[in-house]
Amino acid sequence: MSFESIKSLKSRIGEEVSVRGWLHHVRRQGKLTFLVIRDNTGYIQSVIKPASGEAATTVAKKLTRETAVTAKGVVKEDKRAPYNGLELQINNISPVIDYASPELEHEIRPDSGPQVLLNKRHLVLRGEQASDIMRFRDLMTRSFRKFFFLRDFVEVTPSTIVQTQVEGGSTLFSFDYFEQEAYLTQSSQLYLETVLASLGNVFCVLPSFRAEKSRTRRHLTEYTHIEAEMPWYDFDDLLNFMEDMMIHVYSSAKESPTVAKFDQKVDIPKKPFERVSYEKAIDLLREYDIKGESGTFLEYGEDLTEGPERMLVDAIGKPTFLTHFPVGMKPFYMKLNDNNPKVMNAADLLIPNVGEIIGASQREDDYELLLNRMKEEGLDPSPYYWYLDQRKYGTVPHSGFGLGLERFVQAILNLDHIREACLYPRLINRATP
Ligand code: 4AD
Repeated sequence: MSFESIKSLKSRIGEEVSVRGWLHHVRRQGKLTFLVIRDNTGYIQSVIKPASGEAATTVAKKLTRETAVTAKGVVKEDKRAPYNGLELQINNISPVIDYASPELEHEIRPDSGPQVLLNKRHLVLRGEQASDIMRFRDLMTRSFRKFFFLRDFVEVTPSTIVQTQVEGGSTLFSFDYFEQEAYLTQSSQLYLETVLASLGNVFCVLPSFRAEKSRTRRHLTEYTHIEAEMPWYDFDDLLNFMEDMMIHVYSSAKESPTVAKFDQKVDIPKKPFERVSYEKAIDLLREYDIKGESGTFLEYGEDLTEGPERMLVDAIGKPTFLTHFPVGMKPFYMKLNDNNPKVMNAADLLIPNVGEIIGASQREDDYELLLNRMKEEGLDPSPYYWYLDQRKYGTVPHSGFGLGLERFVQAILNLDHIREACLYPRLINRATP
């Protein structure tokens, strides 16, 4: 038997069709049974009436939510019906293997708390909202990839099992790798840098891991990191590239019906984006009366923590590069500014709703300076021999960045918590399911 996709039914009005899918809703009203059938392409309201015949009405009495069914019926136009104003008037319906257990009704309730929803994430993912978010995330992933491919980048897949740190020891997950200490990668950046001399512009879309001890609405312990590295790019080239990339991806987001469904609006940013140095940001925080967690204004040299950072970009109201952080505030690999070696050629891209979504910098390309920076940060250079070799054998100016995919999705759909932007979020105290 051949089955129509639910999405295609709008061109089949008046015809008898067969569909297969899962029962998204089951509602009985007198002698009628209203169903919503779901497949991977959409939803359709369906009805079983006494006129559907005895076989169908007998099955109707036993149907439960999430039963997988095959159904045959006539597609009718009905302006009142949710989901495209179509209704399938069923003549025949049967469960594919068995009726779904009625216990499902007790698994998740409207008042279920976040821990229950996380435990039942495998069921939550069948819901409309969670699956809309997953599709939107897919659209965004494709859009980033498309942008890189349009610019002839090569996609590579560095290992996520490593023996060097990138973003500081405090968020490193370490484990025993056949009696050697190894880590789950915090960023694939250093590995991307190693192939610039042969592959040119490269990118990867891979998990990064952070042993984040803080519970915030924008931190995961495992997230999808979109990272790119470009030889010959100086700091301005880097900012310019990221602007083009964000305009491309915002334009794809604007096309997505999910954005409107989530009551959001996408304003495609214009070049050049707002650029605020770290020093200026400290002044702006006072101007906007934004205080740090301790209730006082931040002083130069203090980390711009999540709260003030987000309030600042919400006040500015558009994507903003926060640039030129003081040396020591960010990792060893960032290049010092030629005119002011007390600051680095580094930029975070902040966007409204979540704050930082990108960490970027020009990289230190000088062997001695890089070695000194590592020592200053207390890093033993020996495990980094392969990274340092890049500066020995044909070093060139280069730059790159990393973007947190979940944070970006969270910001565009204005989700309360980043966990909603992952299939199975990994959070402090949670690695199940
Ligand atoms: O700013 P970060 O730490 O930069 C790096 O890792 C660079 N080595 C990347 C590079 O230049 N190739 O992280 C980059 C981005 C952040 O801006 C944020 O969006 C995301 O990764 N991120 C997280 N997302 C979710 N949960 C966490 N715990 C995250 N930590 C960072």
